[in-house]
Amino acid sequence: MSHLIAPSILAADFANLQRDLEMINNSEADWVHVDIMDGMFVPNISFGFPVVAATKKHATKPLDVHLMIVEPDRYLKAFKDAGADGMTVHYEACPHLHRTIQAIKELGCRAGVALNPHTPVALLEDIIADLDMVLIMSVNPGFGGQKFIPNTYKKLQDIKELSARKNPNLLIEVDGGVDQSNIQQLVAAGANVLVAGNSVFSSANQPEAIANLKNPK
Ligand code: DX5
Ligand code: ZN
Repeated sequence: MSHLIAPSILAADFANLQRDLEMINNSEADWVHVDIMDGMFVPNISFGFPVVAATKKHATKPLDVHLMIVEPDRYLKAFKDAGADGMTVHYEACPHLHRTIQAIKELGCRAGVALNPHTPVALLEDIIADLDMVLIMSVNPGFGGQKFIPNTYKKLQDIKELSARKNPNLLIEVDGGVDQSNIQQLVAAGANVLVAGNSVFSSANQPEAIANLKNPK
C-alpha cells in the first residue's frame, strides 16, 4: 500500500474552512486530520463539535479525529455523531484503554492510540492486537508548526517490530513537523499515514504540496 496523506485543518484558515476543505477534496489527500485540543491534556484549545460537523458537511474524505483530551470516553459518541470516521485517543489520557478502544469500535469507527514523544512503544504490547492504528507523535502535542523530533525514527522501528509480531495490518501514523524533507525517510521507516499541517497550508500551492508529499522525489 502506498502511504496516506492526512492534511491537518488545524493549520487551515478557519474563516475559509469550506474553501480549504474543497482544496483537500480536489487534492491527492486521503484523509482529513482533525485535531481536538481541550486545554487540559494539552495547553491549547482548538475547536469542538460544531466545527467537526461543519467539516464533515464539506469534506469528501474520511475524518481522522485526533483527540488530545482528558476523559475521551465522555465524548466518543458526540464525535462520531459529528462525523468522525476514525478516532485516536492518547495512551497518556486513558487509564482504561482497552475499554476506550472497544467503545470506539462499537461506534463503527477505526480505533487508534497516540503516543507522546516520551511514551515507549513497548507499553502497547497488550493492546496492539485490538488497534487499527498507532499514532506516533513526532512533536509534543498541542500546537502546529513545531520542529520534528528525530527519535521518531527509533519509535517507528519499535512499532514496526511489534506490528510484525502481533498486528501486521496495523496503520502507523506520524504527526508533527512532517514535510518534504523527512517524508521519504518516514515512509521508509514504516510510517504509512502522514499528517501535515503547516507544510501544506503555509505553501503557496497547497494541492502541489499535498501531491509532493504523496509522491515524494
Ligand atoms: C499537534 C497536532 C498536529 C498538528 C500538526 O498537536 O496533533 O496534528 O496539526 O501540524 P504540523 O504539521 O504543522 O506540525
Ligand atoms: Zn494531530
